[in-house]
Amino acid sequence: MQNVIAIDGPAASGKSTIARMVAEKFHVPYINTGNMYRAVTLYALQKHIDPDCGMAREKLSVILPQLQLDYVENKEGKLELEMNGALVADSIRGPEVTESVSQISSIPEVREFLVAKQREFASRGLIVMEGRDIGTVVFPEAKYKFFLTASPEVRAKRRLAQGGEIAAGSTVESVAAEIAARDEMDMKRKISPLRKAEDAILIDSSELNIEQVIEKISSYINK
Ligand code: CDP
Repeated sequence: MQNVIAIDGPAASGKSTIARMVAEKFHVPYINTGNMYRAVTLYALQKHIDPDCGMAREKLSVILPQLQLDYVENKEGKLELEMNGALVADSIRGPEVTESVSQISSIPEVREFLVAKQREFASRGLIVMEGRDIGTVVFPEAKYKFFLTASPEVRAKRRLAQGGEIAAGSTVESVAAEIAARDEMDMKRKISPLRKAEDAILIDSSELNIEQVIEKISSYINK
């Protein structure tokens, strides 16, 4: 068994809020692997690599070893993502990165690079790790596995309410379309596609509030 509480699910399903709160409740560290894929995407964009260009994979593979990506503990004991020694910019959650992240995440070398780092973290003790392939590929033997989902409309409304992460002038319809496009790419990619692990507990939060989701997850962990 691996010392991991895996929380996977599609875009804007509430994973980050839930994962952070579960980690606080059980006093364990939390890692958002989506931010790692977003940081690599920001790095690629900074290096003027066009994710749509046929050479993106080769170009990125060459410079990837120069990217230093670490989760470092801050004063409150929370883990924060650093890129080449500096805290990652808020722009990893902005529209430019969001638009390209699924393409960058489908590059095998990027996944190998990040999965190796993710596995290192679990050797230090129980940890909450959130992503798309944590329960299926990164930690197939995770102690606890949850798959969070919600209806497309609920997810679009939640993302819209978050502000900041979306392009100016977005509507429920445009956000729903962006989420649907990303989910489709994430589900259809050849390696580590987004899917529920057979032994993961499915939680549909369309009709549940945050406390109710935490309650459900906690009751499984406490069992
Ligand atoms: O927070 P949000 O639902 O928008 O997504 P995220 O967790 O920040 O992940 C951004 C993107 O990273 C996803 O759409 C996937 O393409 C990729 N990702 C992945 O491929 N594997 C993971 N374990 C986590 C994220």
